[in-house]
Amino acid sequence: MQAKIVTLPGDGIGPEIVAQAVRVLRHVASTYGHTFTFEEAMIGGCAIDAVGNPLPDSTLATCATADAVLLGAVGGPKWSDPTAPVRPEQGLLKLRQHFDLFANLRPVKSYPALAKHAPLRADLLEGVDILFVRELTGDVYFGPRTEQGDGDRAWDTMIYTVEEVRRVARVAFEAARRRSGRLVSVDKANVLASMRLWRRTVNEVAKEYPDVKLEHVLVDACAMYLMRYPAQYDVVLAGNLFGDILTDEASVLAGSLGMLPSASLNNGTFGVYEPIHGSAPDIAGKGIANPIATILSAAMLLRHSLKLEQEAQAIEQAVDTVLLSGARTADIADPGSPSLGTVEFTDQVIAHVRPGVRV
Ligand code: IPM
Ligand code: MG
Repeated sequence: MQAKIVTLPGDGIGPEIVAQAVRVLRHVASTYGHTFTFEEAMIGGCAIDAVGNPLPDSTLATCATADAVLLGAVGGPKWSDPTAPVRPEQGLLKLRQHFDLFANLRPVKSYPALAKHAPLRADLLEGVDILFVRELTGDVYFGPRTEQGDGDRAWDTMIYTVEEVRRVARVAFEAARRRSGRLVSVDKANVLASMRLWRRTVNEVAKEYPDVKLEHVLVDACAMYLMRYPAQYDVVLAGNLFGDILTDEASVLAGSLGMLPSASLNNGTFGVYEPIHGSAPDIAGKGIANPIATILSAAMLLRHSLKLEQEAQAIEQAVDTVLLSGARTADIADPGSPSLGTVEFTDQVIAHVRPGVRV
C-alpha cells in the first residue's frame, strides 16, 4: 500500500527517537512491499524559536495531507518560564483539538524480561496488560480559564458534555468487547459535578454493551489499586486529566516511561502517534534515549491508521525478542550492566522485523 506519514520530531530527544522509528517504518515498507512517504514539520519549542508559534499553520496544513502523524515530544527548560505567553505544550493541545483526536489509546503491559528491573514485585506484574482509553479533547485542559495567570486568583474548569463522554466511552466499550469484556471507568463522582455527568453517561452507554462488565472506580482509589492489583485491570476509561496522571503512574508497570506508546484517534482512520513520555532534555543529544515507546507508536500507526495488523505485530514481536535477548537501553538496564544507544538498540529491532516471525 501507499501511505504518507508526517513526522513532528519536536524538542529534546524527540528528533532522535522519531528518526529511529522512521528507520523501522522504512524497513517494514521494504520488507512488506509498501511505499511510505515521509514529510517533516515543526511543533513545540523549536517552532516557537523559528516562527514564534508552537503549531504553525504550515504544520497543520502538512498534517492534513497525511494518513497519519508520528510525533516525538515537545517542551524543555528553555520554554518553561511560567509567565511565557506561548508554550510548546500549546502546540500539542491545539493539534489534538484541531483534528478532533478525542480518543487516546495507551496500552500498558509488563515485560517479563524487565521484571527484575521494575520497582514493583515480579509476582504483582505477572500478566499485566491494560488498555487505557483517555479522553483527549475535553476536561480541564480545554475548559474556560483565567488568561492572566499573574493575579492572586487563577482557575481552570473541568467541563464535559454528554456527547464528549459518550463517544469516548463507546471506544472503550468496543475495546473491552474485543478484549476480556471488562471495563473500568474512572471518575471522581463523589466530589465533582462534571464527573457525575461522566458516570451517568457511561452508564447509559453501557446499555448498548450488555456483554461488557462495567465497574466505576474513583480516581484516588484507582491510583492505589493500579499498583496493588495491576493484573486485574483490562480496559480503563478515564477523562483527560485523570488519564494523563494514571498513565504516567502505570508506566511503572512496564518498567520505564520509555516503553509506552500511544495513539490519538478521531472518528476516522487519521491519528497522531506519540510516546507518552516527554522530551527528556537532560539526555537529549546523547544518543541514549530509549526508542521503544516511539517504535511501538509506529506499530500502532500501522495498526490503526493503515490497517496493517501483521506489520504492527511484526514490530511488537521484534521489540519483545530484542528485550528477551537481553539488549537494553540505559533506562532499563540493570545497574552496572552494559546498555545500547538509541541507534544500536533500533538496529537490533530492525534485524528482527521479519514477516511471520513469532516469539
Ligand atoms: C501527555 C503529556 C501532555 C498532556 C502534555 C505535554 C501537554 O503529558 O501527552 O501525556 O498533558 O496531555
Ligand atoms: Mg502526560
